[in-house]
Amino acid sequence: MIEVKNVSLTYYQENTTTQALANVNLHIGPKESWVFIGPSGCGKSSLLFLLAGLRRPTSGEVSVAGAPISSPRPQTALILQDYGLFPWKTVRDNTALGLKLRGISAREQEAIITPILENLGLAEHKHHFPAQLSGGQRQRVAVARALALNPDLLLMDEPFSSLDALTRENLQETMVDIWQQKGMTLITVTHSIEEAVFLGQKIAIFSPRPARLVSIVDNPLAGDRSFRDHPDFYRLCARVRHLLEEVTR
Ligand SMILES: Nc1ncnc2c1ncn2[C@@H]1O[C@H](COP(=O)(O)OP(=O)(O)OP(=O)(O)O)[C@@H](O)[C@H]1O
Ligand SMILES: [Mg+2]
Repeated sequence: MIEVKNVSLTYYQENTTTQALANVNLHIGPKESWVFIGPSGCGKSSLLFLLAGLRRPTSGEVSVAGAPISSPRPQTALILQDYGLFPWKTVRDNTALGLKLRGISAREQEAIITPILENLGLAEHKHHFPAQLSGGQRQRVAVARALALNPDLLLMDEPFSSLDALTRENLQETMVDIWQQKGMTLITVTHSIEEAVFLGQKIAIFSPRPARLVSIVDNPLAGDRSFRDHPDFYRLCARVRHLLEEVTR
């Protein structure tokens, strides 16, 4: 689904240059769930922007679904940390935004978003504005909007970081269900080791800036709803923590 070959990225500003990514190689299969984890400021969001086609690498190549990516593709959805909701639009209109931009009729929009809003527990908030919602509900609207486009690749940048622990776990479980139902490729950037281990079949660990891919941890039990109660869950959290400590030492 995704090929990242020898990718480096440097930002050039007036009189400074910042190297964000150094020679990253990744091979991500269809329907896999990956998590990117690494120190703050290392270059994870930059990598997600490359995968979304919103930026070009300074050197190297990024291919998605068999084609080199030079601009955003319609089947890729990106969820940003600040939700990206319009405060003046209702939950319904925020969710349908991408569909409207594609010229899909109001009736068709309704048919697409109704089951998604129901699935995410938002049906009763359909006519509310973002300011009338909790953080967790706003995050669900951002997820609903991404899902309305029926993506085959969903990129999430620290999606649940501002939520309380239980709401966060609850949304992680919802995401796992959606990922399994839809069979999409899912990539999540997070700072939470527990979130990484719950969501990521592969956990990619990055070095401090410029981000290098330091290791990929295999996690075959990811996506199992009862995984949190499994002794392997804690073992794997300890392993990821240890690897992170090593790269930042
Ligand atoms: N548009 C930009 N112009 C210049 N420098 C940038 C730009 N975007 C990011 N950077 C720099 O590139 C580096 C990597 O940023 P990036 O946002 O990818 O990190 P991150 O791993 O997502 O960090 P965090 O975990 O804090 O979100 C940082 O030093 C940042 O200041
Ligand atoms: Mg970031």
